[in-house]
Order: sequence, then C-alpha cells, then structure tokens
Amino acid sequence: MKSKDNRIKLMNEVLNGIKVLKLYAWELAFKDKVSAIRESELRVLKKAAYLGAISTFTWVCAPFLVALSTFTVYVMIDERNVLDAQKAFVSLALFNILRFPLNMLPMVISSMVQASVSMKRLCVFLSHEELQEDSVERMAVAGCSDSISIEDGVFSWCRNDAPTLKRLSVCIPDGSLVAVVGHVGSGKSSLLSALLGEMEKLEGSVSVKGSVAYVPQQAWIQNATLKDNIVFGQERKESWYHRVVEACALLPDLEILPAGDGTEIGEKGVNLSGGQKQRVSLARAVYCDCAVYLLDDPLSAVDAHVGKHIFEKVVGPQGVLKDRTRVLVTHGLSFLPQADLILVMVEGEITERGSYLELMARDGAFAEFLRTYANKEQEDDESEEGREEEDTEDSAPKRGLENGLPAAVIGQNHSSTSAVRTEGEVLGKKAKNAEVGRITEADKANTG
Ligand SMILES: Nc1ncnc2c1ncn2[C@@H]1O[C@H](COP(=O)(O)OP(=O)(O)O)[C@@H](O)[C@H]1O
Ligand SMILES: [Mg+2]
Repeated sequence: MKSKDNRIKLMNEVLNGIKVLKLYAWELAFKDKVSAIRESELRVLKKAAYLGAISTFTWVCAPFLVALSTFTVYVMIDERNVLDAQKAFVSLALFNILRFPLNMLPMVISSMVQASVSMKRLCVFLSHEELQEDSVERMAVAGCSDSISIEDGVFSWCRNDAPTLKRLSVCIPDGSLVAVVGHVGSGKSSLLSALLGEMEKLEGSVSVKGSVAYVPQQAWIQNATLKDNIVFGQERKESWYHRVVEACALLPDLEILPAGDGTEIGEKGVNLSGGQKQRVSLARAVYCDCAVYLLDDPLSAVDAHVGKHIFEKVVGPQGVLKDRTRVLVTHGLSFLPQADLILVMVEGEITERGSYLELMARDGAFAEFLRTYANKEQEDDESEEGREEEDTEDSAPKRGLENGLPAAVIGQNHSSTSAVRTEGEVLGKKAKNAEVGRITEADKANTG
C-alpha cells in the first residue's frame, strides 16, 4: 500500500507537470524513478500473490482434508467407533454447511484491514482544522467611514504556530490607496490573506466593508478563452469589458494572440507569459467591480512601462478604481508618492505608516527599504530611458513626477542621502554598471 501510494504520488506529479517534463526531456530520468518504485511494488505484490496461491490451495483442499482427518481420527481413536453411512453423511453435511463461512473468513479479515486503513486516512483528512468563519467581520453598516479596519490583530498560518503577523492595527478609509511595502517574507501577502480571512486569527478583530476582489501574487488562470477568464461568469458588458482590457494594457496582447480574446488559454495558462497572466488576473478583478481591492504585487511580472500604464489607468488616483479602496503590495518605488497611506512591514509587524513625505522625513525602515531598492529602480529606468524618449512629449512631466520627486525628497533629507549618492554613482561611473547590475539581480531574486 505504501509503495502504491508513492507510485501514485509520483505519477500524479509527472502527469501534472507533463508539459515541463516533455519540454526538458526528463522522461528517462522519471521513467527510472517510476520503474524503481514499480519494482518494489511488484516485489510486494509477488509475495502477496504467492501467499494468496498457497492459501487458496489450502482452502480448496481443506474440506477434503478435514473430512479425511476427522474420519481417520474417529476410526483410530477407539475400536468401537464404526464409520457407518449415517455418521459419514451427517458429518459431510455439517462440513459443507461450515465451508461457506470459513471460505469467507479470510476475505472478511482482509476487508477489515483495508477498511481500517481507509478509515484512518479519512479521519486525518476530515479532521483537518477548519477556517474560522467569523474571523473577518463583514460590516453592513453603510455609515462607517473606514473600509478596512484591524484592531490589535495577531494572526498565524496554523493554530499552534508562532504568530506570523503581530500587533496589527490599521484603519483604511473608504476609497483610499494604501501601499504595503517590505522585504521578502515580511508578511505582506499574509496581511492580505488575513484580510481575506484565510489565516488563523488568534486575537483582535478584522472588519471589511463591502465586496472584496483579490489579485494573488501567482496569477490563477482557468482553462477557457481569454474573455471568459476576464468576464468569469459575470454579466457581459461590452463597453466596460473594453475599458478594463484597455486599462490593463491587454490590447497589444490581444493583437498578438491568434484568435484575439477568443483564444483558448491552455491549462494553467501555458500559452501566456507571466506578465500576461498577471494582467488577465488583474483584469478579472477589475471587471467584477468590487468595493475593496487587495492587490498582491500585480505589477511585479510586467515590464516597467506596462507597470506604469497599469498604475495610471487602473490603480492610481486617475485609474478606473479611483473610488475604490485599494491595498497594493508593491516594490515599485515610483508609485509610492501617489499612495494616500504607506504601510511598512518588518517581520510581520507594521513598523511605520504615513504618507510618503512623512515617512521620508522619519528615516526609519522605509528609508532603508528605499535605499535597498533605489539601485534596482535606477537600473530599470535607465534601461527604459531610450524607449520613453521616443514616446510623446507628455511622458516627460510624468517622469518628473515619478522619479524626480523621490530623488528631490531624498535630497532634502540629509541622513538618507546614501540613496542619492548611489544613484549619482550609477549615473556617473558607467564603468561600475556591471557591478550595479549584479546587485540588481540579487534584489530581483529577493522580491517576494
Ligand atoms: N500559505 C502559507 N502557509 C504557511 N506559512 C506561510 C504561508 N504563506 C506565507 N507563509 C509564511 O509567512 C511568512 C510571510 O510570508 P509572506 O506573507 O508571503 O511574505 P511576503 O509576501 O511579504 O514576501 C513567511 O515566513 C512564510 O513562510
Ligand atoms: Mg508575497
């Protein structure tokens, strides 16, 4: 049973990832693995078959042997015992009656063993912890001005684990744009999961007003047409659909795809790039038009200029979601000045909060975060510069707003000038570019 489990587990994995497996030509390696498990399973099966054969043989011979031995013993035990027809036939009849229950006995025993194993497995499956249904309060009160509020929240992924998120107290007003920043593993995605009620709430209270749309960090794609993936069973509204597709920068992709938005998207989105998947996932959330948007780094897998387009057209203060409450986890520093509130997360706690200018003046974890990612941003912008210069004139003021402002603000703050200094070095010493590139790679690897 154990080797059967192993084999089924491996085969499941192989079949799930058959495309990758074929692509990298790993068939032989996996064939060896499956064969090895199959061998051990075969050995067990062979043993079981031999035992089965012996027991079947015994069971077939048993009635005959039993009758023979009984009569022999009966005759031999005493001289006065005479085996006449009456005794013999009555005994044979009795043995025949006993035969059926005795035949069934081994089957009953093996079925009982199987049943107990299955029961144990079902028990483990059915007695998994349940999600607390009341962990997130859905506020029905329309008069309340806070769209999301967490009071003294302590959350963990598992009831017995140490809490992942501690001392969370946040109030997010209706219609505001909140940016959540922090290093990888600092609990940004966990914060969104807590708001969705997917984490174990140990203390405190969470309330969310209105319907919630969630864009996960890993885009989730159904095996359906691109349009069905965006509309997702909702009412079809053509003009709104086109607005959403345009805002999520999907129009150029639709032109490339063989059948436009009718293109069938393969299992797990195999025929879309990472950025396209993320944009489809974002478009689905935007299309459903909810009150609260939880966006888990939706701009991480898209190119920098597409990211800017999406921020302006969807998430930003002029975007289609401008009246909704948006919680945006992001690594894009250029978007931060436009956020109403920035939450800085360090090891599961919100260590700083406030607007961009307030946080810059404080020079705490946020300034450190900026310093870490300033290099990466600078590199991105440099690589993009050529592209943007070909654009229309109106891209110039945008650049001034997004990249000029952070630089200017950092400049005001003398204690955090190292970010500016790094930028200066990058611009000045082109020879050092290779080294900067390496740092950027490391940063990229670090983004959660
Ligand atoms: N589904 C999960 N189950 C258990 N632990 C998790 C899960 N997701 C994240 N964690 C843990 O929570 C911590 C914070 O992770 P996460 O919120 O994903 O960080 P971030 O999104 O900021 O990179 C990590 O230590 C991680 O191991
Ligand atoms: Mg994350």
